[in-house]
Amino acid sequence: MEIIIQPDLHSGTELGARIMEALIRTKPNAVLGLATGSTPVALYCELIRMHREEGLDFSQLTTFNLDEYVGLSAKHPASYHRFMQENLLSHVNIRHDRIHIPDGMTEDIPTFCRDYEAAIVKAGGIDLQLLGIGHDGHIGFNEPSSSLGSRTRIKTLTENTVAANQRFFSSEEKVPLHVITMGVGTIMEARTCLLLAFGKGKAEAVAAMAEGPITAMCPASILQMHPHAILIVDEAAASQLKRADYYRHVYANKPPFQHREMQKPNFIASHSELTQ
Ligand code: F6R
Repeated sequence: MEIIIQPDLHSGTELGARIMEALIRTKPNAVLGLATGSTPVALYCELIRMHREEGLDFSQLTTFNLDEYVGLSAKHPASYHRFMQENLLSHVNIRHDRIHIPDGMTEDIPTFCRDYEAAIVKAGGIDLQLLGIGHDGHIGFNEPSSSLGSRTRIKTLTENTVAANQRFFSSEEKVPLHVITMGVGTIMEARTCLLLAFGKGKAEAVAAMAEGPITAMCPASILQMHPHAILIVDEAAASQLKRADYYRHVYANKPPFQHREMQKPNFIASHSELTQ
């Protein structure tokens, strides 16, 4: 796993966006795996800016989202369909028939999940899967004890994840207990996994996933087995990493040809500026 420690959320986000940009420019018909939650919001904002100001073209891309709440329609304000439209998809020139997000209203979840897996294969597999990490080490909504070989399926959220996600719902409304999520095995088949984690609250999960044992109790730890997993963290999220100095040393001494994604000037516009 390549572990890159950046000073703060802005520089970490900028780097993540440049990695995605490099893929999109070299492979305009790439297949992207996308995530929701707070972590990727600034990155999506930067991709929107690149689309508007630097001609980043989404017209041939295909996307697959990690997860969706069971029982929420695409129009529900807290659905991941809405989240994706508001934070990225409605602001770029992506084709609607190439956007895939699990259907929380499907009447036949097992069939839907099998079809979702088949659609990923039919699209040629995911080139880059963007990931956040839960405080308990979940990726997608694969909570601790999820099979490390799991495929897209229904999962029950833990009480902690429900509590953490309450912020996306109005105060009296309850977070759904069930979700459809890509499995850990599905995520592991992406050619590149790019996990971002920012803030002190993620430090324990980051240390467990990167330096702890590979275990279903921390599903993100399976990324240690991935041939091309990149972890971008800020100083706060890196604060419990035992070998942080080594990761800094490796990154500082990276051969120049591996730094292609860093060759452009950096600028992250505010999200409200870009989405109005
Ligand atoms: C989102 C997802 C989750 C989040 C994780 C972190 O699609 O699958 O794994 O990435 O819960 O959430 P934030 O970024 O809100 O801390």
